[in-house]
Amino acid sequence: MSSISLRNVKKSYGNEVVIENLNLEIRDGSFTVLVGPSGCGKSTTLRMITGLETLSGGDIFIDDTRVNDVPPGKRDISMVFQNYALYPTMSVRENIEFGLTNKKIPKEERQRRISDVCEIVGLTEYLDRKPANLSGGQRQRVALARAMVKQPKVFMMDEPLSNLDAKLRTQMRVELINMHKRMGTTFVYVTHDQVEAMSMADDIVLMNQGKIVQQSGPKELYHNPNCIYTAQFVGSPQTNILDGQLPEKMKLGFRPEKVRLHPVEAGINIPASIQTKEMLGSEIIYSLQTPYGVVMCKSEEDMEDAVKVTMGVEFSSMYLFGADTVRLPFDDKARAAVSAVFGGPSK
Ligand SMILES: Nc1ncnc2c1ncn2[C@@H]1O[C@H](COP(=O)(O)OP(=O)(O)O)[C@@H](O)[C@H]1O
Ligand SMILES: [Mg+2]
Repeated sequence: MSSISLRNVKKSYGNEVVIENLNLEIRDGSFTVLVGPSGCGKSTTLRMITGLETLSGGDIFIDDTRVNDVPPGKRDISMVFQNYALYPTMSVRENIEFGLTNKKIPKEERQRRISDVCEIVGLTEYLDRKPANLSGGQRQRVALARAMVKQPKVFMMDEPLSNLDAKLRTQMRVELINMHKRMGTTFVYVTHDQVEAMSMADDIVLMNQGKIVQQSGPKELYHNPNCIYTAQFVGSPQTNILDGQLPEKMKLGFRPEKVRLHPVEAGINIPASIQTKEMLGSEIIYSLQTPYGVVMCKSEEDMEDAVKVTMGVEFSSMYLFGADTVRLPFDDKARAAVSAVFGGPSK
């Protein structure tokens, strides 16, 4: 088990500054997920922690040891990539054992670890098969097992599920959560997929353009976004933003799932008409035409297409943002301003 600390870390490739100044604390034993759009610096950050990439500035600590000059093999970190490579001529057992061969571990101990790990990832019945005779999900499990069997202090994964189909990905997510619980090791996981991040992480590090936008638990990230970027990154359809009406270029945000198709008491009520209706099963996604632009709504209420409704949003579901897109407190003054512009409570 280990904590990781990045202090004033910088990374440039030639003249291109990829990471300007990153400060990040990864808690011992946590399942930490770095999430953000493609190109924001997630893999670079991971590779600097593992030692596969040098730093242009700053320090990295694992526990209390500065590891800047410690080679990758000595950092006690195992890593699984999106494009994992298994040895095609070796059996599952041999592929997994390969991770241990240069560690001078006695045979009995090796066998014990392999059976433990295979029990965790559900490969016990497949130990003698060759990779060609395994499904995509089983192969990915071998890659995970090979990394786990080394019993690293830190276990890192870079988009390990991206090559799997949707159903298998969902299943593997649950398995990774269970693996983390059983192992108790620090997991650092990279993905561009907010759903993956939300479903697995204890700690989410949301990145954009080489910077951390917000770091918090999934619940906090969803309920308490610190800016418009976070509010819109998490959740689908994305958080509605009404822009251009409030004083001082403030903007009003609220999630589609908080939009009611009827008037509310403590909130705003806006005339709207249903433009499109998308049936998801238990929920329906509506796009509503309002005097302030299109608003997305996710609801269990089944309404007719093209009807006129009163769209209600409660004050308690609103986010207020400043001109700089940073979240502002929703105090009495804000409430009065929002009521004055968008029309107040129904009674
Ligand atoms: N070896 C490299 N040489 C030059 N630029 C690189 C290299 N690796 C990554 N980059 C650049 O660094 C930025 C961040 O990349 P990366 O960390 O791979 O992003 P992510 O994993 O979030 O998609 C991108 O703009 C990418 O083009
Ligand atoms: Mg990447």
